Amino acid sequence: MTVVLVIGAAGKTGHAVTRALVARGVRVRAAVRPGSQGMPYAAELASPVTVELTTGLGLRAAMAGVDAVYHLAPNVHPDEVGIAARVAESACAAGVSRFVFHSVLHPEDTSMPHHVRKAEAETVIRARLSTATVLRPAAYGQNLLDAALAGRMAVPYSLDAPFTNVDLDDVAEVAALVLTESGREGATYELCGPESLTVREQARIASDVLGRTVQVTQISLAEWAAGPGSAVPEPAREDLLAMFRAYDRDGLTGDATDLERLLGRPATPWHVTVERAA
Ligand SMILES: NC(=O)c1ccc[n+]([C@@H]2O[C@H](COP(=O)([O-])OP(=O)(O)OC[C@H]3O[C@@H](n4cnc5c(N)ncnc54)[C@H](OP(=O)(O)O)[C@@H]3O)[C@@H](O)[C@H]2O)c1
Repeated sequence: MTVVLVIGAAGKTGHAVTRALVARGVRVRAAVRPGSQGMPYAAELASPVTVELTTGLGLRAAMAGVDAVYHLAPNVHPDEVGIAARVAESACAAGVSRFVFHSVLHPEDTSMPHHVRKAEAETVIRARLSTATVLRPAAYGQNLLDAALAGRMAVPYSLDAPFTNVDLDDVAEVAALVLTESGREGATYELCGPESLTVREQARIASDVLGRTVQVTQISLAEWAAGPGSAVPEPAREDLLAMFRAYDRDGLTGDATDLERLLGRPATPWHVTVERAA
């Protein structure tokens, strides 16, 4: 049976990728932070292994005997590039033949420091593993899903900026595909949703699907920093503020062609994401 090591397995993305791999009959080795309470899988589906990404402790043991590695870094991590180097070096030393990196849409966008770190991470990974596959997902539709279901979407950027958000389960399906099938070595794919929607439009669609009003509000950056952002440690908070400024100015959009070609079907639109969760 194919064994895949998923880095960051206990988080939102890692959980979705693990589910998609298990659905394909793959055995998942789930890398979780030492002491993490977040191991979300039944032991028969995924075997946990502890890895401390900031030091690399546990990486060598985690890599032993795996067929492929899915690397996703902790969200907005200041040491994204160092983590990428440690994970790629361990994979290289272990002779892992397939490596997939979870990057981000438009990593070259210099207005967002954490995007630029993803671009640097891509470079350090490819310097060690030239056949690595890179996935560049847009923002997930799921990021605003709980707020939509709760009836109030509040974001610190323009309600009229365009986004081609992608359904996280579509991203996970593609991840499982490229981890288990050959032919995508060395490729880079943008993973964007099938429609360009503003947050105002997302709220209207969610209202239609749910049959009740979903309010939508733009809050200021200061309100975000004093509210939800107050729990985010520096320097991630500054990175997120830079991201909201970029979102306010440009939104975040790309093309769904790669995603739909890889899926072999249309990408999931926002109204279906809401319908499934409702
Ligand atoms: N959200 C989006 O729309 C989006 C779009 C494109 C790309 N991405 C990228 O997707 C990636 C994953 O995002 P996410 O929201 O799924 O992240 P997440 O929920 O924060 O998950 C990250 C995981 O990494 C673990 N972790 C944190 N620090 C660690 C350490 N020092 N050693 C070992 N493990 C550690 C966390 O463990 P604990 O559970 O113990 O904290 C968590 O399980 C990020 O790189 C992000 O940039 C996200």
